[in-house]
Amino acid sequence: MLLPTSITSVGAVLPLLLAVCYAADDLSTAGAAPMSSAAATTYLNTGKTCCAALELALPGKVSGNNTAPYISSLASYWSVQEESVHPTCVVSATTTQDVAIAVFILTVGGELLPGQCDFAVRSGGHTPFAGAANIDQGITIDLSALNQVTPSKDLSSVTVGPGNRWAQVYSKLDALGIAIGGGRVGIVGVGGLTLGGGLSFFSPRYGFVCDNIIRYEIVLASGLTINVTQTSFPDLWVALKGGSNNFGVVTAFESTAFPQGKFWGGFIGNPGSTKDAQFKAFEEFTGNPNYDPYAALINSYIFTPATNSWFIANNLEYTKNQSYPPYFQNFTSLPQIFNTMRISNLTDFTLELSASNPDGRRQLFVTGTYSNSAKMMSEIFNIANSTVQALIPVPGISYSLSFQPEPTIITSKAASRGGNSLGLTAADGNLFNLLLTVSWDSSAYDALIDTQAKALFDQAETYAKANGFYNEYLYLNYAAPWQKPIAGYGAANVANLMAVSRKYDPLQVFQKQVPGGFKLDQ
Ligand SMILES: Cc1cc2nc3c(=O)[nH]c(=O)nc-3n(C[C@H](O)[C@H](O)[C@H](O)COP(=O)(O)OP(=O)(O)OC[C@H]3O[C@@H](n4cnc5c(N)ncnc54)[C@H](O)[C@@H]3O)c2cc1C
Ligand SMILES: *[C@@H]1O[C@H](CO)[C@@H](O)[C@H](O)[C@H]1NC(C)=O
Ligand SMILES: *[C@@H]1O[C@H](CO)[C@@H](O)[C@H](O)[C@H]1NC(C)=O
Ligand SMILES: *[C@@H]1O[C@H](CO)[C@@H](O)[C@H](O)[C@H]1NC(C)=O
Ligand SMILES: *[C@@H]1O[C@H](CO)[C@@H](O)[C@H](O)[C@H]1NC(C)=O
Ligand SMILES: *[C@@H]1O[C@H](CO)[C@@H](O)[C@H](O)[C@H]1NC(C)=O
Ligand SMILES: *[C@@H]1O[C@H](CO)[C@@H](O)[C@H](O)[C@H]1NC(C)=O
Repeated sequence: MLLPTSITSVGAVLPLLLAVCYAADDLSTAGAAPMSSAAATTYLNTGKTCCAALELALPGKVSGNNTAPYISSLASYWSVQEESVHPTCVVSATTTQDVAIAVFILTVGGELLPGQCDFAVRSGGHTPFAGAANIDQGITIDLSALNQVTPSKDLSSVTVGPGNRWAQVYSKLDALGIAIGGGRVGIVGVGGLTLGGGLSFFSPRYGFVCDNIIRYEIVLASGLTINVTQTSFPDLWVALKGGSNNFGVVTAFESTAFPQGKFWGGFIGNPGSTKDAQFKAFEEFTGNPNYDPYAALINSYIFTPATNSWFIANNLEYTKNQSYPPYFQNFTSLPQIFNTMRISNLTDFTLELSASNPDGRRQLFVTGTYSNSAKMMSEIFNIANSTVQALIPVPGISYSLSFQPEPTIITSKAASRGGNSLGLTAADGNLFNLLLTVSWDSSAYDALIDTQAKALFDQAETYAKANGFYNEYLYLNYAAPWQKPIAGYGAANVANLMAVSRKYDPLQVFQKQVPGGFKLDQ
């Protein structure tokens, strides 16, 4: 078991914390009569005691309802569902030590006042569903200010803070002629994406984003901060590659870096009439035994409610300075309705993708993984086309299906890099990921949209199982709150993750006191 002996500053905070806990009534109701037990329960359930302790320990970094930092923290979530969740206070950490002090106080507070110091951990805030990185009547630790981007002297690795958005990271690295695996949409956060796996333009060359992380700096539930590498804490190192927020708060990621110049990328749009040719091209592209590792593809089908029709948008990236490479020819030869292909830098391509994923809307992501098959894609498309009909009247509806190759050239990378916890290997064969994205305006339609989305994925699963295309893996970062992505890592990985959790978090703080996101027993 690990004890928080190395954090001297936390030792200094302890008496303060105890004073706050036991003097909670005095602090909040100075001069008033003692509270009735009903009033005390209401009071204690709001997280205020821990917020008061945090404010004493981290003056100026804890903000409550209706203050400017609180409002701007909430406003910077991607979805309306997540920005509508109101924590009692937001801790705006600016150093690793701030995080360590906050977690220590919250752990001790949660022990003394069970259920009243629940908290959330937030990096870029791009998870669509409510409560993943925010918490109603609890404490949200906002890591936005942990945004270092520090290349090593020899440029072989880069240390990035979890609060960075990917475009910030890439703009610094582009200037140095290097890159790291990371998000493809500039506005998305580093923390959540990296801990959930991570698909990048470079995945066919370097695997999932997490496969490139050589060091995690993490604050454990005890407040102890450690550097986790393959040699220092090998079990935790593997657990963090897919383990999301289940083990602690990661305050820095060190990723291997590689030389990267400008490359070819952008979008090509095609009419819906090309769909069958697209499915065939996708299957051949993803299943090609000589998959070109520089080629990355997101093949999206976008519904247009006004005309009850679809069009196709392909995001094509070839991470070399070469236009129209032959590997993309089966896509680039189809009739086009728009085309932004160009040679440019990584930052520029991720900003282009940010523009097509605006914030401030209600959002749903749902995901599935299937064996690479044009038949499976066509079936999914047909089910989606019938399912979406009921959503045509929903004001402001946007509805798209994105297919992404997950060939063995990606899933085989982890094996030579110390492994990950995702449960995908070359033995799964060539796969594709499906992401359904729905955006809309009014909460009045939430239930209808959930029902339709579940119908799509249930029918797709039935078809996949009956035809040998089913895979249990669900990409955590695309999963709906009613999906169970960690269970999809497989029983052996789940058992390992639970053992690692009991070892590094014996009080199970990150299972019980951090309810958001996907927990190990889900
Ligand atoms: C527009 C858009 C584009 C996307 N593009 C891609 C893409 O190209 N590739 C891809 O793989 N995914 C992509 N995603 C999915 C993305 O990976 C997830 O939304 C991811 O959660 C975003 O990370 P975040 O830091 O912004 O999220 P947050 O919502 O802040 O966090 C996500 C989860 O991780 C936990 N967490 C965050 N930081 C930490 C930390 N430092 N320590 C411990 N736990 C932490 C949170 O508690 C939360 O449960 C995209 C999502 C959106 C909305
Ligand atoms: C914050 O204030 C708003 C009104 O400004 C109120 O509706 C909301 O309930 C308050 N939330 C909390 C957690 O106190
Ligand atoms: C990246 O490309 C954009 C668009 O051409 C340009 O404005 C920007 O300066 C480039 N950034 C770097 C670091 O080269
Ligand atoms: C982790 O390693 C980095 C880089 O070597 C170092 O700067 C940092 O202080 C270390 N953190 C801890 C908690 O040991
Ligand atoms: C393009 O299509 C042809 C004909 O179907 C096929 O043989 C080839 O493998 C495809 N190319 C790629 C890169 O998938
Ligand atoms: C890319 O290649 C073209 C010609 O093939 C060359 O003119 C150009 O300088 C190259 N650009 C970069 C950034 O290497
Ligand atoms: C989608 O379904 C509608 C309604 O049944 C039908 O009219 C339309 O032809 C279908 N579109 C495609 C591309 O299959």
